[in-house]
Amino acid sequence: MTASAPRIDTTRAHPARVYDWLLGGKDNYPVDEAVGVKLPGQARDAARQNREFMHRAVAWLARQGVDQYLDIGSGIPTEPNLHRIAQRVVPSARVVYTDNDPLVLRHAQELLAGSPEGATDYLMGDVREPEVILEHARSVLDFDRPVALSLIALLHFITDDQDPYGIVARLVAALPSGSHLVLTNASSDWRPDLAAQVVAEYERAGIRLAFRTREQVARFFDGLELVAPGLVAVTDWSRGDDVPEPEESGIYGAVARIP
Ligand SMILES: C[S@@+](CC[C@H](N)C(=O)[O-])C[C@H]1O[C@@H](n2cnc3c(N)ncnc32)[C@H](O)[C@@H]1O
Repeated sequence: MTASAPRIDTTRAHPARVYDWLLGGKDNYPVDEAVGVKLPGQARDAARQNREFMHRAVAWLARQGVDQYLDIGSGIPTEPNLHRIAQRVVPSARVVYTDNDPLVLRHAQELLAGSPEGATDYLMGDVREPEVILEHARSVLDFDRPVALSLIALLHFITDDQDPYGIVARLVAALPSGSHLVLTNASSDWRPDLAAQVVAEYERAGIRLAFRTREQVARFFDGLELVAPGLVAVTDWSRGDDVPEPEESGIYGAVARIP
């Protein structure tokens, strides 16, 4: 884990803290809440539904025997965190968390309390520097065995001019055959009016968002084998009967196997 403690900037909104506010967390500042309250009510549902997708997708991966996870854009700890879900099924699972927000670093201790048999690790890192993250991850995970790469609700903060497709391709290329990619990305396909409002509110706060069409999200999975039910609204991914209809989510998600 990185030793230095970078300064927390409370004068401008941060993606991790707005998301924390949307999830009903307490690790955010008035400047983050000011963005959250202006978003349409559906944004809170979307945040929760995205999180629930993570729970189902990671539980599915763990049931396939996946015991190594690289989670980039992990967010402020929110129980149950990814390692809890994985270690419930595979107690020896190892998880490397990475986020570029200093507040996440401050709370990283909560991400590091895993099962005695497993291991968790935290790196303050930026997905736009994938090689730095990979180098660190190799010190904790065995890259000769399958790894699940999790980029959940991260890539809509990486606009096209920052080469999101190239970044994902570089990360995927470093993983051995039989690894998985699990990813979600907000989309304006369902409610363009609400999406435009969300993009405008974040932009006013200095955060650029990249909502993507289904086709644009599908490009992240080029050359990979999508696991059933494929690329769908997060609420539609292995959903039970009691989950709201997909139109309410506004986020695409999928799990794919790296051949
Ligand atoms: C919406 S949260 C998602 C948290 C968690 N993955 C989830 O789905 O519940 C997005 C996270 O991505 C992080 N993030 C944004 N840009 C990033 C970057 N360039 N590198 C690493 N993390 C980034 C933010 O700090 C935030 O914690």
